[in-house]
Amino acid sequence: MIIPDSYPWELGETLGEHLERRGISRREFLGFCSRLGVMLGLGSLMGPSIMEALAQQRRPSAIWISLQECTGCTESVLRTADPTIGDLVLDLLSLDFQENLMAAAGHAAEAALHDALEANRGSYILLVTGGVSLAEGGIHTMIAGRPAVDILREAAEGAAHVVAIGACAHWGNIQASNPNPTGAVGVGHIVTGKPVVNIAGCPPIGDVVTATVAHILTFGRVPELDADGRPLFAYGVRIHDNCPKRANYDAGQFVEAFDDEAARKGWCLYKVGCKGPVTFSPCPIIQWNDRTDWPIGAGHPCIGCTERHFWDTMTPFYGRLPGIAGFGIESTADVVGAALAVGAAAGVAAHAVVTGVQRARHKPDEIDKEEV
Ligand code: SF4
Ligand code: SF4
Ligand code: F3S
Repeated sequence: MIIPDSYPWELGETLGEHLERRGISRREFLGFCSRLGVMLGLGSLMGPSIMEALAQQRRPSAIWISLQECTGCTESVLRTADPTIGDLVLDLLSLDFQENLMAAAGHAAEAALHDALEANRGSYILLVTGGVSLAEGGIHTMIAGRPAVDILREAAEGAAHVVAIGACAHWGNIQASNPNPTGAVGVGHIVTGKPVVNIAGCPPIGDVVTATVAHILTFGRVPELDADGRPLFAYGVRIHDNCPKRANYDAGQFVEAFDDEAARKGWCLYKVGCKGPVTFSPCPIIQWNDRTDWPIGAGHPCIGCTERHFWDTMTPFYGRLPGIAGFGIESTADVVGAALAVGAAAGVAAHAVVTGVQRARHKPDEIDKEEV
């Protein structure tokens, strides 16, 4: 354990026993599990079952490696809005390696990683932030004298589950944008033979990460994924369909410039570049910072950061979507999506095609905005 814990776990203790010793009532725990069930798209009635499963857990190991990245994802996860979710996941896991949080550095940190991999071989959850660079033998991302790709392969080989956190780990992010000088790729490009869960976004919402880990702990398997490896409970919803400015879009009320009267009124940002119509993410529902705000809520267009290759396919960020003939009425939203599916790059197009599947699996009311 590398995080100071004022309630150290006792040997062989289950989560249920641990929480009871900490004075957390079953009622509080059930409330958390019910909210988790809602967030996972399973409904609050799953709360008792989730509670039963989590209560039996005995501190599985998690190993978190940081590769070609900026640590923004770590910040996002550690600042999860709901302390009960963040606390539970961090408390429940034995976080045996996380170099941003641990005191050790240099050779001691490398030894800690080696020990953690060996001691928990076959059973740990591997969390990865950052991608790897393959060009020129991987010399663009070297850690302790080793290319990041070697570290990733070694860590993934003994993992029970692999979770790629953020756009860098998902597909390489800006490092992988054209012309991709370092040959950057995501975790799923390297790790084969086991599913890689992609928690998309730059950074992703921390609560989505912790909910995904909680799902793995509860059910012993990764959540249902979309065609791009993203958990459907979070990425099965399109921003445009949950955006509070959708009524302005439908009414043809658009911001033309960031300092105009329409911007002050909070109207739709489509004409100044919003990519919400082709972006799948729960941003309007979960939001950031204790559900204080999110990009569009703060008056900035969505740049599509949860979509693969968004630096190439969603730019110019402040320009309208390409190939869209018209907009302003309800039915046009689908025309927007269809036009992009034809005109945009393969990744975006492929995702638009699976929209129908995702919608079929996720009814709009499955995520309760009041409870999530
Ligand atoms: Fe940083 Fe974004 Fe990469 Fe996360 S996805 S490590 S926030 S650049
Ligand atoms: Fe919201 Fe953007 Fe859609 Fe406008 S275009 S309704 S700002 S998601
Ligand atoms: Fe990213 Fe758009 Fe959400 S830019 S944070 S997916 S609103």
